[in-house]
Amino acid sequence: MVIAIDGPAASGKGTLARRLALHYGLPHLDTGLLYRAVALALLDADRDLADETAAEDAARCLRAESLGDLRLRERAMGEAASVVSALPAVRAALLDWQRRFAGAEGGAVLDGRDIGTVVCPDAAVKLFITAAPEERAHRRHRELGGRGEAASYEAVLADIQRRDARDKDRAAAPLRIADDAVVIDTTDLDAEAAFRAAIAVVEARRRRS
Ligand code: CDP
Ligand code: CDP
Repeated sequence: MVIAIDGPAASGKGTLARRLALHYGLPHLDTGLLYRAVALALLDADRDLADETAAEDAARCLRAESLGDLRLRERAMGEAASVVSALPAVRAALLDWQRRFAGAEGGAVLDGRDIGTVVCPDAAVKLFITAAPEERAHRRHRELGGRGEAASYEAVLADIQRRDARDKDRAAAPLRIADDAVVIDTTDLDAEAAFRAAIAVVEARRRRS
């Protein structure tokens, strides 16, 4: 069973993906980390984020071990990832990686922006997680504060709006809702309620198949 979860920044898709993976005993891949790791590799090598050849090389050389680097979670890396993720060569280079992961025996949970539309178009379950930008900014602001990364609420909201626009407007695999995805709006749902809503969708799909 492949569960594909997409949605904008801080919608709660990562938290949900981790919980579903634990519940069903499936491996989980946070695909945002792949784009963050490509961005970090470029920054470490002093290369321009728009250098498509260098970015493609970084994507091809990506190793699973590098996904544990704590710097990948930093606010600036989300922004940098959204720049490299618009490069078609980077997306193409990461596609096999993601599909191999999704092909694991028994299935997998993947979360990102294009899982249900491009990476796993045949996924058994597709969820699109969303929430109002202001609520997402509050969540991310709280999260950053908890990690000691100071940023004003207004700056975090502006980040989220800029990233939403870039992810939706790019030509290569833009963020959009797959035709057969179920949308869960978590604006007024805590993580537990979002999990219960998702479980109901997964169980309904399992009964049907
Ligand atoms: O956790 P958050 O939603 O803030 O970010 P993320 O999922 O780590 O993704 C960082 C950036 O990578 C996003 O803004 C997208 O531009 C890009 N991304 C993508 O293009 N496709 C994916 N499947 C996952 C992430
Ligand atoms: O992966 P994504 O960027 O979509 O969001 P996340 O990292 O899963 O969630 C961002 C923050 O919102 C985390 O601190 C979560 O605990 C919190 N949150 C959530 O995940 N789900 C809700 N329904 C409400 C809050």
